[in-house]
Amino acid sequence: MFDSLAGLKKRTHSCGALRARDAGGEVILMGWVQRRRDHGGLIFVDLRDRDGLTQVVFNPEANPDVHNKAGILRDEWVIAVRGVVNPRPPDMVNPQLDTGEIEVLVEELRVLNGSKTPPFQLEDYRVDISEALRLKYRYLDLRRPGVMKNILFRHRAAQVTRKFLNGQGFIEVETPILTKSTPEGARDYLVPSRVMPGQFFALPQSPQLFKQLLMMSGLDRYYQLCRCFRDEDLRADRQPEFTQIDMEMAFVTEEDVMGVVEGLMVALFQELMGVHLQPPFPRLTYQECMDRFGLDRPDPRFGLELKEVTDLIRESEFRAFRQVVDQGGIVKAMNGTGLANKLSRKELDDLTEFVGVYGARGLAWVKMTPEWQSPIAKFFPAGSKKALNDRLEAKEGDILFFVADIPQVANTSLGQLRVHLGQREGLIPPDTFNMLWVTDFPLLEYDRDAGRFVAVHHPFTAPKEEDIHLLDSPDTLGQVRARAYDLVLNGTEIGGGSIRNWRRDLQEKLFQVLGMAPAEAEEKFGFLLEALDYGAPPHGGVAFGFDRLVAILCGAKSIREVIAFPKTQKSACPVTQAPSRVEPEQLLELGLRLEK
Ligand code: AMO
Ligand code: AMP
Repeated sequence: MFDSLAGLKKRTHSCGALRARDAGGEVILMGWVQRRRDHGGLIFVDLRDRDGLTQVVFNPEANPDVHNKAGILRDEWVIAVRGVVNPRPPDMVNPQLDTGEIEVLVEELRVLNGSKTPPFQLEDYRVDISEALRLKYRYLDLRRPGVMKNILFRHRAAQVTRKFLNGQGFIEVETPILTKSTPEGARDYLVPSRVMPGQFFALPQSPQLFKQLLMMSGLDRYYQLCRCFRDEDLRADRQPEFTQIDMEMAFVTEEDVMGVVEGLMVALFQELMGVHLQPPFPRLTYQECMDRFGLDRPDPRFGLELKEVTDLIRESEFRAFRQVVDQGGIVKAMNGTGLANKLSRKELDDLTEFVGVYGARGLAWVKMTPEWQSPIAKFFPAGSKKALNDRLEAKEGDILFFVADIPQVANTSLGQLRVHLGQREGLIPPDTFNMLWVTDFPLLEYDRDAGRFVAVHHPFTAPKEEDIHLLDSPDTLGQVRARAYDLVLNGTEIGGGSIRNWRRDLQEKLFQVLGMAPAEAEEKFGFLLEALDYGAPPHGGVAFGFDRLVAILCGAKSIREVIAFPKTQKSACPVTQAPSRVEPEQLLELGLRLEK
């Protein structure tokens, strides 16, 4: 029943290409029937491909057979048409549509394939459809202009990236996917070896060690748009497999790497958004970020900055605060400027629950009426209130929030609350971009569960030269600063990197500080240590979350919106239903047996 393409000339245009200037020409278009409208006599079809829509017209008087055939067309049928471009009369021009000045009067119709009725409307991508359904039928979802536009944008972003880096003398090199586990802080995806039963590859969490080895190979200035795999709990900006723009350079300091990155960002924003960024981007130390924003990825596009008030609490009789301070904790505060009347009692309870997720034991609040209106007002003498008002610049209509806890909890919970209120109350100016560097990260942090220090970034990051001596005593390990830098865009960490340990003794020292015995270091990273023995140049690099960057530039809510076939919250592939069971023989071949 269906036609073929045999004998038809090639496609002449995409469905988004034709304009008034093309009027009178013969064209061949191919695509999907987005909608068929039968106007008694004339039949109109909106023909769609990835580029856009063109209205094609079947006229019973001009071509009765073809018109007849068009009567069977339904949504999402696949057709080819040959016809003549006709300028639309002025009152029929559709300014919403790129091709709205014209239509195509069809002379020949090939019906190439039919379609079942799609499980959801494809016509209007703003219609809310459950994400589960969209992801299951991703090939239909992609036909809609929303995600399709993002994927096309992503393609252009990759092109701009490659063009810029090629121009800076970078070489694109592929690195192995079947490799050895390297720690980037997440769990590994493992792949069993058939040839060596009981042994496993790990999928790379990043190409970190290979790119360092490339610098030792003399292949200065490497880049790759690479896939990384991390088995971690998912959020809107995390996927188990994601793409990095990965870079490494030899004979460099932080300044060199940051300079290249700034150039790349300027190029991306200029070419994709028409936005002119002004480098150098502001730099904030990690400490300053924590003090002012409570997070190491600050969004300074709005106020509500945090202040420490521990010193002003001593006179208060509020036990919850005093206890925390006596145990060496801190009290952090935020002035919710002008928000006092916007937050009901119920909403304040919800906010208390919100900070609880980050470990806060409570959220104390004070409404400025202009007196202190608060359940905790009675515990604060007048002088104490005044001192707090002054520090927080509190005035009538403001609401003050306090969290008392260990610094990490006080900072994170109030920092997250700041972002939450900023978004909820519309404090963030729309369509603005803020790019900044965070520097001077600590190299190590104490992990209570592990009972030892762990690398904040990864174990290959170099300490600042002037802090190396602090590695010698367990008491000062937490003070060592890293030669690391993160790039933050609108409060999201889009990239991070560092100068690496390029001398063996320093790398060995770090493994030791991280609690790795020499034999273990040898077993896990012997190949790296050995390579450092053969003339490793100073080197450093950076990696960007390509999905995150593209999502922010597209204004997408989640990185799933810029990935052709993303995974679900459960790290499953909704299209293929992977992961799935395998045949017993396959397991046998791998020397594996399932416990359950
Ligand atoms: P890092 O682990 O900071 O550094 O990763 C670099 C960037 O990758 C993005 N990213 C993710 N994006 C989506 N889903 C995820 N699960 C995910 N995890 C990370 C973030 C992050 O900034 N090898 C080092 C880089 C280096 O030192 O050069 C690395 O991978 O945007
Ligand atoms: P309570 O005295 O426990 O009823 O607490 C009075 C108010 O102080 C409540 O709003 C609590 O949420 C808040 N609160 C209790 N502990 C803390 C804390 N550690 N940090 C901030 N607020 C707290």
